[in-house]
Amino acid sequence: MPAYAVIGGQWGDEGKGKVIDYLAKNADLVARYSGGNNAGHTVINEHGNFAFHLVPCGTAWPNTVNAICNGVVVDPNVLIEEIKKVHDAKLPGKIVISTKSHIIMPYHIELDKLQEIQRGSSAIGTTGRGIGPAYVDKVGRTGIRMGELLDPKKLKAKLNDIVDKKNELLIKIYGGSPINITDVHLNVDNWYENLHPYISNVEKKTNDILNQDGNIILEGAQGTLLDLDHGTYPYVTSSSSTIGGAITGTGIAPKEISKITGIYKSYCTRVGSGPFPTELTGSKGDEIRQQAQEFGTTTGRARRVGWFDAVAGRFSAKLNGFDSLVITRLDILDEWEEIKICSEYKLDGKIITDFPTDVEQLDQCIPKYKNLSGWKTSTSGTTQYSDLPKQAKTYLSTLESELGVPIYLVSTGPKRNEVITLNEIITR
Ligand code: GDP
Ligand code: IMO
Ligand code: MG
Repeated sequence: MPAYAVIGGQWGDEGKGKVIDYLAKNADLVARYSGGNNAGHTVINEHGNFAFHLVPCGTAWPNTVNAICNGVVVDPNVLIEEIKKVHDAKLPGKIVISTKSHIIMPYHIELDKLQEIQRGSSAIGTTGRGIGPAYVDKVGRTGIRMGELLDPKKLKAKLNDIVDKKNELLIKIYGGSPINITDVHLNVDNWYENLHPYISNVEKKTNDILNQDGNIILEGAQGTLLDLDHGTYPYVTSSSSTIGGAITGTGIAPKEISKITGIYKSYCTRVGSGPFPTELTGSKGDEIRQQAQEFGTTTGRARRVGWFDAVAGRFSAKLNGFDSLVITRLDILDEWEEIKICSEYKLDGKIITDFPTDVEQLDQCIPKYKNLSGWKTSTSGTTQYSDLPKQAKTYLSTLESELGVPIYLVSTGPKRNEVITLNEIITR
């Protein structure tokens, strides 16, 4: 009856999509529990190359249900497009959407963009997908849930009043343009038409699977350091991307979770603003970004790049209770002469090993590095640990000891089977 959580240990884009597609072979259901189409999860398998924003990453497997759970905020237009792509590619996995997930409305998207403009130099660098404003309405108890789409007439009447109020906000406070209510009504009809067969009591489905001894993967979106409570606030997303969110975002009991796996890239990236102690700026940063092709899956923005930060990594591991690790993109380091791991920070002249909770403090931290030698040989596509060069093994064992958690999988390429299995994460 176990559930397995798979959570990003850094600032997102750790390779969750690739790993979940691989693990989902042994899952009866993959549950997306937080965020919305701010996420971009790349999957490359026998069916093609996909960037999933809302649909969970288990669609390649015929017996795996893909559940968009209550903790997610859904832009129905994006979801309709994505479901179409899944069908066009003949991906066999079933898709279901929780009645309790919230809808990202057109006014949320407008507000997200206008609020970013108003923040000026303190802009968060959001994805502009309406995520924050949709969660604000959820918490303010004025949000619209997917279940309401099942009665489009009633929903349209309700929206008349809501859109009036949102238009006042858009025009008077933010100097933006109003949302056209006729367009919103047309949207609702289109959403109902395309999505109603998928909307159901997903919480019951997940719990039934657990009661029947099935396996569930809890698919993390974003990363621990973007978590609303525990990340680098205010430079975070508006949902709980950590293990707590996996529970509230699906409606399963904590005792059902048998393993919590942290995914880390073998270096660090971040998109958007906020502190990043190990960031490599200037030409070195540009060189790595180009070589590693670090550009956002959702927005195409250049990702900031830097060395592996074990101070931040330990914080994530402890917060989530990671009991195993997946290290991705090892092959990206193949040509690097020297590889660094930040094992502690210097703050106000003192060495610290705990991740500061305050962003201003974090901004002042100077990383202290362990220098390791590179291996200057290809590991791309390697599937056997014994085939790895000695220096790569040393790099992995240093990460393991820095984080205090064993590595179960090492990913050596973007394709599903480009992976070294040291220990199984999910078994039947
Ligand atoms: P996610 O948001 O965590 O699912 O990650 P993204 O899909 O946004 O970004 C990860 C990128 O790395 C994608 O382009 C993947 O195809 C790619 N990727 C994943 N694992 C590996 C790996 O081991 N090696 C290489 N070279 N690319 C990888
Ligand atoms: P995946 O699931 C990387 C970042 C944005 C911004 C901040 C807030 O692909 O790892 P938001 O639009 O959520 O209000 O933006 O969070 N962000 C991500 N960065 N990967 C993601 O998802 C992200 N989702 C949000 O860049 O800094
Ligand atoms: Mg991504």
